[in-house]
Amino acid sequence: MNKKNKAFLEKRFIDEKFDLAKVVIGSLNKVLVILDDDLDIIYIDYDSFNEVFGFERNDVIKSGFKIIFGDIFSYKEFKKFLETSAKSFFTNSVVFRNVRSNRVEIHCKYTLIPYHLNGDKINILVIEDISKIEEQKKLIMSKEKDLIHYQRLDVLGKLISGIAHDLNNPLASIYGIANILIEDETLEDDIRQDLKIVTKAAQQCKNITENLLKFVRKKNMEKEYIEIKELIESVLLFLNYHFRKNNIEKINISFQGENLTVLGYFSELQQVFYNIIINSIDELIQIPPKDRYLEIKCYSNKKNIIIEIFNTGRVIEPQIVDKIFEPFFSTKKNGGTGLGLYIAKKIIKEHDGEIMVDKQEKKGARFIISLPTTQDVITKVTTNINKKIESKIRNKNILIVDDDENFTEFLLKFFSKENKVDITKRIVEIENYNIQSYDLVICDVVLPDGNGIDLYLKYKNKTKFIFVTADILDTNLFSFFEKNNLMCIKKPFTIEELVRAILLE
Ligand SMILES: Nc1ncnc2c1ncn2[C@@H]1O[C@H](COP(=O)(O)OP(=O)(O)OP(=O)(O)O)[C@@H](O)[C@H]1O
Ligand SMILES: [Mg+2]
Repeated sequence: MNKKNKAFLEKRFIDEKFDLAKVVIGSLNKVLVILDDDLDIIYIDYDSFNEVFGFERNDVIKSGFKIIFGDIFSYKEFKKFLETSAKSFFTNSVVFRNVRSNRVEIHCKYTLIPYHLNGDKINILVIEDISKIEEQKKLIMSKEKDLIHYQRLDVLGKLISGIAHDLNNPLASIYGIANILIEDETLEDDIRQDLKIVTKAAQQCKNITENLLKFVRKKNMEKEYIEIKELIESVLLFLNYHFRKNNIEKINISFQGENLTVLGYFSELQQVFYNIIINSIDELIQIPPKDRYLEIKCYSNKKNIIIEIFNTGRVIEPQIVDKIFEPFFSTKKNGGTGLGLYIAKKIIKEHDGEIMVDKQEKKGARFIISLPTTQDVITKVTTNINKKIESKIRNKNILIVDDDENFTEFLLKFFSKENKVDITKRIVEIENYNIQSYDLVICDVVLPDGNGIDLYLKYKNKTKFIFVTADILDTNLFSFFEKNNLMCIKKPFTIEELVRAILLE
């Protein structure tokens, strides 16, 4: 097409018919381009071109479309698409990968519409950035994979719990019979020594099956008090085999400070530490065995328990450090799901904690988790409900009848200094206390030397009772509580439940 004609067409296009189309297409964040029948550009909406690709008018004038194709092959494909589509009577669409001026890769959909303008053939090309749609497509597909993954985990969980249960019965026999035989003095000493090895091994198996069961246990509806030491040791026990198999011998674990207890979901928190330590193992096996070192440090300040997990090996590079907690981000060649740290972060958040990676670490990777101490949880909850409860329990005398020391320690923390709180573990000792002088008795049902219910029947006219019990299956017990209008809270319970029981009592 000669120059005069081109200029004429461009003028007509801008002045007349396409004015409206230009506005509409521009507002849809699409780039409108008009090509003549030689496929030379006669119009281009530079503003939207700049918005989508970041290039300026002069860049386009100088280099044409080449500038947005990262490689020559894709550019050739694009030219081929233009040529074949221009010959066609129909509208054709295709998706190409392009690069923006900042080198970021985007996906664009190209639609070519052959058009006749008063006998002149032109081609309308609409370019649309569909990167977001592509991303969403990918996300939906990966969510499906995610579901499949979780379903598999669920099936695996059921299988493991079945096996663990079945193993427990023969184990109980091995353990029990070996124990009886050890006591048999007619047996020779070396046989009894061997039997000790058998009981020890059976005990170890029992620990493993218990641990397996804890791991696959469905989430409890209630949070429980968890000793961090017990939690981490249970995960390490689980990973023992992996450490040995991979020659990871230098493992340093330390627990410092008091109150290393959190309120949370045991199996979920196990999953957090499992995911992080498994990542450490993946890293450690990349370096020579003599350099493999794993360190787990737990300590606490007033508000938080801090757990640091450090492994020698690769330092997490600055360009990926902000991505590692994103779902499906993985650098593992054998195909990690990239969900480990994402799930860990979700679980920690659910526990009002934080997880981060130490960006200053120069010798390997250090993950730092902080979780609120139970003391902090108690303070937070009690400040909110303090006003109501204060009047109810201010200056009140409380007697706790329970042999579970963890529990009584927790109650001691809960009640303020204004309260007189006494603790007894046995029913016979009640005689030493003037029960009438207490405003409230918090009492376990099953005690080492008797039953809390008997205590209630004896003293019910002298003071008020709240019961706590771990025996959640005893329906007779609960109908007794119901009939007598008694408050009973099930162990483990949250502070809110305790407060509710006191307020309602
Ligand atoms: N201890 C570590 N040292 C170095 N890089 C790590 C460490 N832990 C995690 N990463 C990096 O973070 C990425 C994401 O970890 P994440 O656990 O979420 O997924 P993954 O381990 O790749 O996959 P999966 O957990 O399914 O096996 C890893 O691919 C790795 O690049
Ligand atoms: Mg992982």
